[in-house]
Amino acid sequence: MSLFTFPRQIYFQRDIVDSLGEILSDSLNILIITDKNILNIHGERIRKSLGSKNYRVYDNVEPEPSILSIENAFNELKIMEPDTIVAIGGGSVMDFAKSMAIKFSYPDMDLRDINPFNRLLINLKLISVPTTSGTGSDVSFGIVLTDGPRKLALGNYALVPMLTILDSSLTPYSKEIVRSTGIDAFVHSFEALSANTSTILTDALAEKSIEIIFKNLKKGMENEENAKDLLHLSATMAGMAFSNSGTALAHALGHSFGATFHITHGTSVGLFLPYVIDFNSQDMTTNEKYKKVERILGLENLIDGIKNFYRDVGQPCYVKDLNISKKEYISKIDELVSKALMDSELAFNPVIAGEDDLKNIYLKAYGD
Ligand SMILES: [Fe+2]
Repeated sequence: MSLFTFPRQIYFQRDIVDSLGEILSDSLNILIITDKNILNIHGERIRKSLGSKNYRVYDNVEPEPSILSIENAFNELKIMEPDTIVAIGGGSVMDFAKSMAIKFSYPDMDLRDINPFNRLLINLKLISVPTTSGTGSDVSFGIVLTDGPRKLALGNYALVPMLTILDSSLTPYSKEIVRSTGIDAFVHSFEALSANTSTILTDALAEKSIEIIFKNLKKGMENEENAKDLLHLSATMAGMAFSNSGTALAHALGHSFGATFHITHGTSVGLFLPYVIDFNSQDMTTNEKYKKVERILGLENLIDGIKNFYRDVGQPCYVKDLNISKKEYISKIDELVSKALMDSELAFNPVIAGEDDLKNIYLKAYGD
């Protein structure tokens, strides 16, 4: 059964966060979930916009939130019984807010039991305000939580926020962050396009977001406002695409590599994309999709074109570009492969990738 889910409403306009109070006119008891950094930068603006509305701010969200921290926050806040949760932040804040929405709706539920097959209904308004242009978690059904030493990737369609507010004036000015988050969204689109669960709906969103990011990332890194508006919207389009399709081999390789060498997510998954495109081209349907993207981008060769784009924005094309020695890389290659083989994203890849395939791609990606 094919299903496509996305928010009921998407506001997209620069500075629209200044109208947050107006957008929330029906909400009587609001819980704002954010982190200390965001509150520091944007707190005054958010407070001004909310005016005399009845709200409480919770800013104690840690990166990659733990189940324990969510249970503690719920125990602290449950008396409040909010009718609206507004998540303002990046992926971790979204994960935290979605988990809190579950707890307010099902106080006795163990968050570890969340899965796509639960018939859940969230009994409050869940609103997302992303502050980076990349994760897509403002429109996705997934959450990543820490449970002791384990990372849990959980999801349910009830967790897709009802409303998302896209205001690129909230996004960082740092070139590095704009690049790595933009590259992450670029890879989300390619993976959504090639995933064996893709549909016409997800293809359309993926193709358009690839085009927007390809044409605007450099300008966005230079903080051109129009480019940043477009990047912000395209990250959400990519989020809707992969949330309803999947991410695949580049994410499996990138997760393992990023965790082993402490490289940011967007940079890691971006690095492996050209080699994954090469590998997945053996599938006829996927190859046709790549050819279509090649035409949309006006390229003679998709892989060469992506590598040129990477050089233009400063995204590494090879592992050696990250100052990782060949000796160290080779010594860890079996570990990289075994971690990637365990990654659930592999299930969505259009071509079955075994141990030897992963090893070959990792070796090729080092660069000579
Ligand atoms: Fe990603």
